[in-house]
Amino acid sequence: MSDSRVKVGIVGLGTVGSGTFNVLTRNAGEIARRAGVAIEVVHVGARRDNPRCDTSKVKVSRDLMAVVDDPEVDIVVELIGGTTLARELVLRAIANGKHVITANKALIALHGNEIFAAATEKDVDVDFEAAVAGGVPIIKSIREGLSANNINWLAGIINGTSNFILTEMREKGRSFADVLAEAQQLGYAEADPTFDIEGIDAAHKLTILASVAFGIPLQFDKVYTEGISQLTADDVAYAEALGYRIKLLGIARRVPAGIELRVHPTLIPEERLIANVNGVMNAVMVHGDAVGSTLYYGRGAGSEPTASAVVADIIDTARNIVLDAANRIPHLAFQADQLSDVPVLPIDGVETAYYLRLMATDKAGVLAEVTRILSEAGISIEAILQKPVGDRDRVPVIILTRPVLEKKMNAALARMRALPEIDDEIMRIRLESLDH
Ligand code: HSE
Repeated sequence: MSDSRVKVGIVGLGTVGSGTFNVLTRNAGEIARRAGVAIEVVHVGARRDNPRCDTSKVKVSRDLMAVVDDPEVDIVVELIGGTTLARELVLRAIANGKHVITANKALIALHGNEIFAAATEKDVDVDFEAAVAGGVPIIKSIREGLSANNINWLAGIINGTSNFILTEMREKGRSFADVLAEAQQLGYAEADPTFDIEGIDAAHKLTILASVAFGIPLQFDKVYTEGISQLTADDVAYAEALGYRIKLLGIARRVPAGIELRVHPTLIPEERLIANVNGVMNAVMVHGDAVGSTLYYGRGAGSEPTASAVVADIIDTARNIVLDAANRIPHLAFQADQLSDVPVLPIDGVETAYYLRLMATDKAGVLAEVTRILSEAGISIEAILQKPVGDRDRVPVIILTRPVLEKKMNAALARMRALPEIDDEIMRIRLESLDH
């Protein structure tokens, strides 16, 4: 074991920062045995103290840049969140020749290309395992464990708050707003909870997953994003009656025309393991040509689960420092000059199956009209369910289709909306079998 120490500066002592500080301190002995060198927190930047951490033996600065500029610090751990100050801080740390670890998904999704270019230039590590699915080592699994494979697709429950909401709605029939308030109280939700429920947080994470899976630049602006706020308890129940669960999935798939990148509520067959991932838990399925389907499951948020990923990155970087081997694993899994410009497909160009719920006048021939429109569009029907309701004026008709190009489905939906017997509001939820 090396006599020298690797010195860490932590910027931000909130939920993840305090967890990181405490795990590094508590497990220091075991961590040194793994790293081959002692790892020590020497400087913490925090606007206020955190009663969960004993920082009495560590330098503490209220000026966060003081950590980044501290010549003692080898590794800067950015845990403040946000994208403005965090970007400035990370770029300055890199310019100062320091390695960087971050849990900041928005920062990597939006500014990762710039940050990695700067890091490659300065030959420093930038690691971000905790940015996706918290404590689940999904980046490392794809980047290293699956590196033999051509990745075909991945699909993940990567936002715990929305999964918690969907689970409580299904299991307990609770209202959307009530469950969201509880998720905020428990500290799972983002500062702006629309990021959780409108799929933006999941889109940040999907951007990162797709880049390490396919070796493409980070392209957050190309992700199709739809959240869960329009879902009704009825749709959750109808899906269940047909043998499906509704999950907010982030999906990245390689198809001949390009890459699909989409976040939206999705029906999944209830027998899939991932359909049974409940509460705030996260899970990601990855399908590789050699390995087939794989599944990674665990806590996607929380103080020490997220710290588990941050500290693993610190250990990797410490090993690289000892061996003078920065950037041994390329940031985005593929060599920086080997990133591909394969196009990300617009949602119109995606092929998927659908759940449709139409509110129809209950009279002879309406269903025949609807099925004629689908048949003329070349859309094959998998199942139809008409739910009897007390008031027989408008009845819900649920249709599951086989996969079809979204553009074709949109044209068929426009024709259905034009029927006087069908309400304008047609609920459309995409459906994925995730079986190959
Ligand atoms: N708000 C996020 C979630 C936290 O609910 O999953 C972890 O990124």
